[in-house]
Amino acid sequence: MSDTLHQSPEPQTPEELYRLYRTLSEQLREQLAQIETDKHDLEVQMMERVGNLESRNLELREQLRQVEADKRYIETQKIRYEREVRKLKSESEQLRSPPLIIGTVTDVVDTTRVIVRSSAGPRFLVRSSPSINPEDLKPGARCTLNQQSLAIVELLPNSFDSQVYGMELVDSPQENYADIGGLEKQINEIKEAVELPLKRPELFRNIGIDPPKGVLLHGPPGTGKTLLAKAVAHETNAHFMRVVGSELVQKYIGEGARLVRELFDLAKKKAPTIIFIDEIDAVGASRTEANTSGDREVQRTLMQLLAGMDGFDNRGDVKIIGATNRIDILDKALLRPGRFDRIIEIPLPDEVGRLSILKVHCRTLTMDDDVDLVRVAKMTDGKNGADLRAICMEAGMFAIRKERPAILDEDFIAAIEKVDLDFNRGPADVEGAMFA
Ligand SMILES: Nc1ncnc2c1ncn2[C@@H]1O[C@H](COP(=O)(O)OP(=O)(O)OP(=O)(O)O)[C@@H](O)[C@H]1O
Ligand SMILES: [Mg+2]
Repeated sequence: MSDTLHQSPEPQTPEELYRLYRTLSEQLREQLAQIETDKHDLEVQMMERVGNLESRNLELREQLRQVEADKRYIETQKIRYEREVRKLKSESEQLRSPPLIIGTVTDVVDTTRVIVRSSAGPRFLVRSSPSINPEDLKPGARCTLNQQSLAIVELLPNSFDSQVYGMELVDSPQENYADIGGLEKQINEIKEAVELPLKRPELFRNIGIDPPKGVLLHGPPGTGKTLLAKAVAHETNAHFMRVVGSELVQKYIGEGARLVRELFDLAKKKAPTIIFIDEIDAVGASRTEANTSGDREVQRTLMQLLAGMDGFDNRGDVKIIGATNRIDILDKALLRPGRFDRIIEIPLPDEVGRLSILKVHCRTLTMDDDVDLVRVAKMTDGKNGADLRAICMEAGMFAIRKERPAILDEDFIAAIEKVDLDFNRGPADVEGAMFA
């Protein structure tokens, strides 16, 4: 505008002045219009920018939310991993930590000092960890000891020797009373002494007598003592624990007695239980002036056995069956009433007995009709159940050798002769034959 003012010459006349005025105002109006459109354009532009910015803002916010969620997720992940690392660290530390010694509390002096016996034998006065409840510290409790200070680290639950667990019969044996020939009287007696008190204790309560505590089966070898006990285990619903006398004889002093004690403890815990001690003469031999420390250890085990048998209430649910073929060497203390108060003899079978044993073992054999078992029973005087079983087996072997479809009478005769020969030849000859 000022340019126009300066370029044009000074207006002289009113017309010129008017014209100038007109052009100027024209120019002004144009410029105003221009400014208006500029302003409008600017506004539109600004609106557009604002719109853009707003959507960008929204986008960014969305991104922020996402990133924050990610962050939270990663943080929880981190915590989880940290926890895992801690766990693994403590686990690896545990694996690397030295083993603890197993011991037994023998005496509690005061709340912090305890006398323990380590599994190796010596006794120590040690301190117990503050985390252990002093009330749980009782003589006899099993505990773990630190290797260096022998301080009690923790108490272990009382458990029985794995050997004692091994004595428990989980699967009952296959043998039942029908597999036993010729021992009806003995079966009845054992049923009366073992099964009846477990099944119907009220009978004994009503009459007022104590049922027998233990039953001792004795007799020559191979007459069916172990078989009878197996049948009892099969027929009864009670827990059955089987131990061979020699298993109770241990290497270290006191171990055998401990085994017996634990056996009785477990039996009591699992009652009703039948404990079967086979070949009881291994621990029950009569006590004499023992010469070796081994003898003395066996005697200690026997004493624990006696004490264990005394420890039960008669009407209690633990019955003991012993078996031996040397009743003559058994300690008299075992045989007195109150311990093994039923002594059942299982003698060599007589003719009738042999016949029924033969019948038991021939049940599954394929035999010819002319086989005369009565004659076989007559011919086998002095044989025991195991011999008769061997005779049946040998007869079967003869039949197989001759490729016969069934066992004949002559096979039995040959089998009797063979078993007789084997029996009479004696161990020296057998040895000679073995190395010949
Ligand atoms: N009365 C019987 N009826 C049927 N089979 C019998 C009889 N007696 C013994 N037997 C047979 O003889 C085998 C051996 O018997 P068992 O093991 O019971 O003898 P045992 O009396 O325990 O001998 P040991 O005193 O030597 O231990 C049994 O597995 C069984 O096959
Ligand atoms: Mg036996």
